Amino acid sequence: MSRILIPKESSSGETRVAATPETVKKFLEYGCNLAVEIGAGEKAGFLDGSYEQAGATLVPVKDTESWSNADVLLCVNTPISNDLSMLSKETLIMGLLEPYSNKSLLEDLQKLKLSALALELLPRISRAQSADVLSSQANIAGYKAVLLAASALDRYFPMLMTAAGTVQPAKIVVLGAGVAGLQAVATAKRLGGVVYVSDIRPAVKEQVESLGARFIDPPDFTENAIESGGYAKQVSEEFLLAQRNELKRQLSDADVAICTAQVPGKKAPKLIDEEMLDQMRSGSVVIDLAVNQGGNCYGTKQSETVVRKGVKLIGASDLARSVPNHASSLYSRNLLSLIGPFIKDGLISLNENDELIEGALISKDGVIKKESLLTSRGTI
Ligand code: NAI
Repeated sequence: MSRILIPKESSSGETRVAATPETVKKFLEYGCNLAVEIGAGEKAGFLDGSYEQAGATLVPVKDTESWSNADVLLCVNTPISNDLSMLSKETLIMGLLEPYSNKSLLEDLQKLKLSALALELLPRISRAQSADVLSSQANIAGYKAVLLAASALDRYFPMLMTAAGTVQPAKIVVLGAGVAGLQAVATAKRLGGVVYVSDIRPAVKEQVESLGARFIDPPDFTENAIESGGYAKQVSEEFLLAQRNELKRQLSDADVAICTAQVPGKKAPKLIDEEMLDQMRSGSVVIDLAVNQGGNCYGTKQSETVVRKGVKLIGASDLARSVPNHASSLYSRNLLSLIGPFIKDGLISLNENDELIEGALISKDGVIKKESLLTSRGTI
């Protein structure tokens, strides 16, 4: 029977956990053995007692024996090298391993002969939807970004007719209409804002409009055919310049900009420059969800609010961490849905030819399966 270990996440600021009592129960039903580190789910509202009740064994944090006995480590973030070195050869790690930016990960995997599934690399196909951690976490980030913006803004979102006169609705510009962007649109609409959206994939126009927002057409360039597997490809600096020119007018009377534009494995496109910020109203708010990838907006800093000429620039990566209970519930269900079909009589045996596994498997017993990562690592 496969032994699964759920660590207490050690990355600073992490509040989520990779398994909840609900998914622990399911793994046990599949015949696996589950060890959960003491306090692993505490910050997400899942107390040790509830894991015990679900049938897991509680183990001390960073206990050498539990780590070396594990066959599979289900985590949110990559554990530090010291912790990884407690694992036995051929152990499988699954989590948000940041394969493009985590510089030491590949060396650790090679040296320690570990297997690893980087959940960021799951192909975006229909069958992967229930396992798609990027979507479940980005959805939360898009929702929370709007709540952050609403509470930082010096105005109402909705139009209000009061005895003291009419208040006009806030104008929200959402940059990037992927999972986070579309959830931001839906949330901002629910709060009564007037929403405009910019994306370079023409395919999203319909989705944006079906949510009641207005689509800002991308610049008319030959580069417009820019999709690959549902994602945007990186565009040229000329394209971005033309796009910024179009956005300048929209931002000059906006109250809020929510930046979610990203290109997997690349630096985020710079969509708001200094000149555009100069045009924004004092009191307006920019939320930059792409801040960890270099940011969509000039001057945003990770986990900081910078006030520039009265405009609040909020660098808000990792917003899923601020909704840890639901973020963990969804994340852990994603993991269960990914591995469940590969469990037979309590044994987890991944089929490397399966499209999902092949897409996300970056190392098999220390052999790196994605050559491209060896050349691109640490580029973001
Ligand atoms: P993402 O986080 O990589 O990017 C967010 C958005 O930024 C994308 O819509 C992208 O087109 C946009 N963007 C990139 N450069 C831009 C620029 N210069 N200006 C404006 N916008 C720009 O993408 P995410 O949210 O992870 O998903 C992207 C797409 O993947 C989804 O919209 C969907 O089509 C597809 N998808 C498919 C799934 C499935 O079938 N299993 C599940 C989830 C997403």
